[in-house]
Amino acid sequence: MKPFCFAKNQIIDAQSAKVHPMDIGLIRGYGIFDFFRTSNYTPLFLSDYLDRFIRSASKTHLQLNYDKSALSDIIHQLIEKNDLKNGGIRMLLTGGVSENHFSPGAGDLFIFCEDLIFPSLEKYENGVKLLSAEHVRAIADIKTTNYAFPVWLSADWKAKGAEDVIYHQNGIISESSRSNIFVIKDGAINTPDEHILHGITRMRVLELAPETSIRQVSFEELLKADEAFITSTTKKILPITSIDNQKIGSGLVGPITKQLMTDFEAMEKQIVFK
Ligand SMILES: Cc1ncc(COP(=O)(O)O)c(C=O)c1O
Repeated sequence: MKPFCFAKNQIIDAQSAKVHPMDIGLIRGYGIFDFFRTSNYTPLFLSDYLDRFIRSASKTHLQLNYDKSALSDIIHQLIEKNDLKNGGIRMLLTGGVSENHFSPGAGDLFIFCEDLIFPSLEKYENGVKLLSAEHVRAIADIKTTNYAFPVWLSADWKAKGAEDVIYHQNGIISESSRSNIFVIKDGAINTPDEHILHGITRMRVLELAPETSIRQVSFEELLKADEAFITSTTKKILPITSIDNQKIGSGLVGPITKQLMTDFEAMEKQIVFK
């Protein structure tokens, strides 16, 4: 964590930020957050992340006392104070302390700056494995702080040499624990649209590949795909080359995935060095 954060309506020493132990963010897992990164001091796609954070607050009935431009100002101040050239920024709105320990109260807003470590080059070159799990996220399009299931499951996927998990239910896939998924067959790109968080990286990939079909994708299709990849703020575009113990396509990173990885890097450079 970087030295300065926003808490209690001001920029303070990050070590002194506190949350009440009876906050329902803690005792019920009820809160929202968002996470984005800086690239050469530019907060990438900031407007989209702020829109999503504001939408999450509204959908969870949590009061956010700062509008988009006030949040943007605080974020720019934090980037400067923390000298955050390339890092992560986490906005968090807790559920608040409530009399009945259940109904949302007046939440606390925190904004932290962090170091950010991407997956290794080897993972981008060779792809990674996902473990499948029968699951679907509740209120999936809201970026809540409740990640209890994947945190618990991570011991299992790590023990099995997987990078993460792919959720499926009734034969239909949705997303990975912190990423969206794209599935490619015979040159056609497909991505699920239901029971997912609408990722900002997914949105960028859809701009790079507007021909993508946004539709229900079956687990069977994923297993028989030529290529697959996941997208997220902290992973960018990460190729998937096996699911459980089954190879995807040739088991190597495919040409469409490679091209999109290159295009995404170019898009980022164009924004940062414009
Ligand atoms: C459940 C879930 N799906 C998808 C994503 C990817 O979203 P983004 O590209 O905005 O990071 C995330 C990111 O944390 C996530 O938690």
